[in-house]
Amino acid sequence: MMGANRAWCVTKRLALSEITCDDGNELFELDADPRVMRYIGTGHVSTREQVDEALRRIPRAYALYPGLGTWRATRRDNGDFVGWFALKYIPGTIEVEVGYRLRFGAWGKGFATEGAAALVRHGFDDLGLYRILGVTHPDNTASQRVLVKAGLADAGWGHYYGRPVRVFACVREAGWQPAWNE
Ligand SMILES: CC(C)(COP(=O)(O)OP(=O)(O)OC[C@H]1O[C@@H](n2cnc3c(N)ncnc32)[C@H](O)[C@@H]1OP(=O)(O)O)[C@@H](O)C(=O)NCCC(=O)NCCS
Repeated sequence: MMGANRAWCVTKRLALSEITCDDGNELFELDADPRVMRYIGTGHVSTREQVDEALRRIPRAYALYPGLGTWRATRRDNGDFVGWFALKYIPGTIEVEVGYRLRFGAWGKGFATEGAAALVRHGFDDLGLYRILGVTHPDNTASQRVLVKAGLADAGWGHYYGRPVRVFACVREAGWQPAWNE
């Protein structure tokens, strides 16, 4: 089963693995669907050039920011490509956000919540982050619901990526101690 072999992390139903330059076609197909891109950036589908640029940037980030990144998600039962999940700095800020983009055929099965919750846990337990944000288009209610189910709470309006967004946030529990100190 591809994906599971090079999995960086597994959840109950998903395998997350590092993105490589071989993943261009899948990512381009994902970003070519207007239903998927409706609430992303300007709402337009991505060009091949934009996907290729992301493919150069994403693998470099694994070494630059250990523990953070963007991961390709596949189903553990059949290896099907589901989309991607990310835990990464919001450009130009010190905030870390959780994000995800799933193929239309994979929506409505709880996959986004499962992957996002796993990355939030990883961010707090393994990386010791203090706060994790989720930023959404104001009308992206499905994504907002995913963030709430992953443990984030509505934090009102914010301004990221050059536009007004709805911000969700979660801080780690009081009294948190790093497990690696024990
Ligand atoms: C947003 C997205 C990740 C959701 O994926 P998913 O796997 O369907 O999400 P889940 O099944 O885990 O949960 C979706 C929740 O939103 C709810 N939901 C779905 N569509 C909704 C809508 N139009 N309005 C309100 N709630 C909605 C679902 O009922 C579910 O909540 P529930 O479990 O309480 O019933 C997926 O639609 C997607 O990839 N969209 C395109 C990219 C995107 O917008 N990414 C987020 C950028 S901030």
